[in-house]
Amino acid sequence: MKISLVVKHLIVLLSISFLVSCQTNNNRIINFPATDLQSEHIIPKPLKIHSVGGGFALDEFTKINCVEDKAFLDAAHFLQNKIEDKTGLITPINTNREDAEGIIVINKISKGLNTKPEAYQIQITSDSLILSAKNASGIFMGIQTLRQIIPRLSIDTLANTPIWVIPSGKIIDEPQFEYRGAMLDVSRHFFSVEDVKKFIGVLSYYKYNALHLHLSDDQGWRIEIKSWPKLTEVGGSTEVGGGPGGFYTQEQYSDIVNYAASHHMMIVPEIDMPGHTNAASVSYPFLNGNGKEIELYTGTHVGFSTFDTRKDSVYQFIDDVIREIAALSPSPYFHIGGDESHVTKKDDYIYFVNKVEKLVQQHGKQMIGWDEIATADVDNTSVAQFWRSKDNAQSAKDKGMKIIMSPAKKAYLDMQYDSLSKHGLHWAAYIPTDVAYNWSPENYEEIPIENILGIEAPLWSETISNISELEYLAFPRAIGYAELGWTTQENRDWKNYKKRLANQVEYLDEMNVHYYKSPLIDWK
Ligand code: ACM
Repeated sequence: MKISLVVKHLIVLLSISFLVSCQTNNNRIINFPATDLQSEHIIPKPLKIHSVGGGFALDEFTKINCVEDKAFLDAAHFLQNKIEDKTGLITPINTNREDAEGIIVINKISKGLNTKPEAYQIQITSDSLILSAKNASGIFMGIQTLRQIIPRLSIDTLANTPIWVIPSGKIIDEPQFEYRGAMLDVSRHFFSVEDVKKFIGVLSYYKYNALHLHLSDDQGWRIEIKSWPKLTEVGGSTEVGGGPGGFYTQEQYSDIVNYAASHHMMIVPEIDMPGHTNAASVSYPFLNGNGKEIELYTGTHVGFSTFDTRKDSVYQFIDDVIREIAALSPSPYFHIGGDESHVTKKDDYIYFVNKVEKLVQQHGKQMIGWDEIATADVDNTSVAQFWRSKDNAQSAKDKGMKIIMSPAKKAYLDMQYDSLSKHGLHWAAYIPTDVAYNWSPENYEEIPIENILGIEAPLWSETISNISELEYLAFPRAIGYAELGWTTQENRDWKNYKKRLANQVEYLDEMNVHYYKSPLIDWK
């Protein structure tokens, strides 16, 4: 068996070199798989790729040899499923280090990698493919790279059985930013658990590690709070346009959190306050601070609602909400919104944010808020999400806070591509696919890179109400934001990216993603 494997790999290696040279000598374009690791269409682009020619043949004899560690083995099973989905091959997983040929090795290492938690390396030779990282998140990120370089088509003529050739070489990779997120507004229109999971699956393929869920707004409250049931009974009963709305039970929310965790992504929950709170106040009118009679709202205006920031009972309510959500939420963050509180007096706003920050901290979480929170007296452990105001972002920097970059003019997924876009808004800008890619989160508006936690692309849902509309706005731009978050500036280039993006069609079609066919891209 061993000898035959050696012979087989030798044949593969020789045959590939032969085929490749044939191809060059005859100058013919034939559909041989690429054997140059450098020219694979990987997004986000890895830090370093070295090609050596030749390839690793994935075939019916390939096994996965994984270190004995639960999280690593979970990642190995994820890889096994994806190999089966793509090739039909079943790759047995074992933890026996003896069997060492024609294998994929999942290795835990303590030295030789950068300190970033998601760093990984892949070493591909004709007889093994070794994926190494310090932890399972690194392995998982490496697996996402691997999925992108396993060809869909096998070669059936080089060996006795079909082989899927993965080009040889080495990939050394790590993310530029630790936070790489998207946001989905499930309040303006509600999206089902299945929709959210589908979105998570595609985002994780491009190495996102966070999905921020905007769980409450004027139009709807979308997460069950057991101590305050009317939030969902009343506040969850409608949405923009008057549709039926909906909400996640705590069990469903946990299901989303666990699904994300199995993709090495966290869910960042947002309860937006003190503004954007009409749905909560209709459910429990003592919360309302705008002095008006209120009713369920299905329009799209902003800035008209506020909690009563000077009532103790309001903070008891908020304490319950944060406690229940924090208990369901492994993420270190709790997002309090804090944007567009136009009818909250400035003093009241500051008083409110300071008090709520303490509540968030008492429940063991770090506060995130939209950039307005930097106008309050917040701690440097809290995080500001830059969406509109450079001044607020500078205040956050001056306070020593970390900042998530989501400038609406560049990173809002709900902005239309152009004036012909079927969905979306354009109050901040039109954002065609190239504009979405061609900016630098690492030095935007003079915010120093040391203050930047990462990048997030928010998708507000005033104009979208189903998954295909969601996907139309999100893709392909979200794929570009993945690269802005992961890949260093020196390694980014629109012309090169555009070619790699064009080659995502196979994956997007297979996942049934209804992406926008931007005319800027020469789709394959
Ligand atoms: C926002 O777009 N209101 C954060």
